[in-house]
Amino acid sequence: MYINKIKLEGFRNYKKQEINLQKGINIFYGDNAQGKTNILEAIFICAIGKSFRTKKEIELINFQEEKANIEINYKRKDREGKIRVELYNNQKNFFSNGIKLKKISELLGKINIVMFSPENIDIIKGTPQNRRKFLDIAISQLKPAYLYNLNQYLKTLEQRNTYLRQIKYENKPIEMLEIWNEKISELSEKIYEERKEYIKKIKDKIYKIHKNVTNNNEEIEIKYISSFNNKYEFIEGLKKNIEIDLKRGYTSLRYTQR
Ligand SMILES: Nc1ncnc2c1ncn2[C@@H]1O[C@H](COP(=O)(O)OP(=O)(O)O)[C@@H](O)[C@H]1O
Ligand SMILES: [Mg+2]
Repeated sequence: MYINKIKLEGFRNYKKQEINLQKGINIFYGDNAQGKTNILEAIFICAIGKSFRTKKEIELINFQEEKANIEINYKRKDREGKIRVELYNNQKNFFSNGIKLKKISELLGKINIVMFSPENIDIIKGTPQNRRKFLDIAISQLKPAYLYNLNQYLKTLEQRNTYLRQIKYENKPIEMLEIWNEKISELSEKIYEERKEYIKKIKDKIYKIHKNVTNNNEEIEIKYISSFNNKYEFIEGLKKNIEIDLKRGYTSLRYTQR
């Protein structure tokens, strides 16, 4: 797929701007603080539903405007489409071909992107959390069910944490915790499998690209290392930490973070 048009209105430093793009490589160049990254940010929002550099929607709207509009036309093998995002009062509305979307999950996968910027060196140098986030964004675009499981996982984790505190302060039965353990472990296994599968898929491509840019002098290795390999190991981990979890009132074994 490729993007053939971007329209910005009241977005960041753009009052009104139309940008036409070509199939293949497009290059934006210019002095600092001219709005190059802002264009990438607009694309990111249309693809992923949020910005990669701010959580505050108000920052995305031009200082002198009340609302912002981003519109992107894209072409795929089988169809063309238009995504529009409306921003105002810390509210975001998404439209696909004019139809308002109810959930972000309906947006994902329409425009497929991979964002790579100098900060992304964190994928290599930073904490595992950075790598998980990168994987989660990539896979969610390919598989809506993945995002669903991820959200279920985070929700269930919250529920388990609430229950841990109820055991501590309200004398609720500890046995009931197994319900949460079971559910969390099942979801973790699904997330784990998808991440493993994705790494497997991109591995060979990355090997080739890396060999090419290093003139065959270097070899890169990519492995997905998880602290467990199936739901049983995850349940064991949860059980092992039960004392400390009860004391703290939250789950210490965490597979992914918000
Ligand atoms: N909400 C906003 N309203 C108006 N201008 C903004 C807003 N947010 C950022 N800017 C301006 O956008 C510019 C930075 O754009 P950016 O895309 O990061 O530049 P670069 O071309 O260096 O990547 C700065 O001039 C900044 O003042
Ligand atoms: Mg920039």
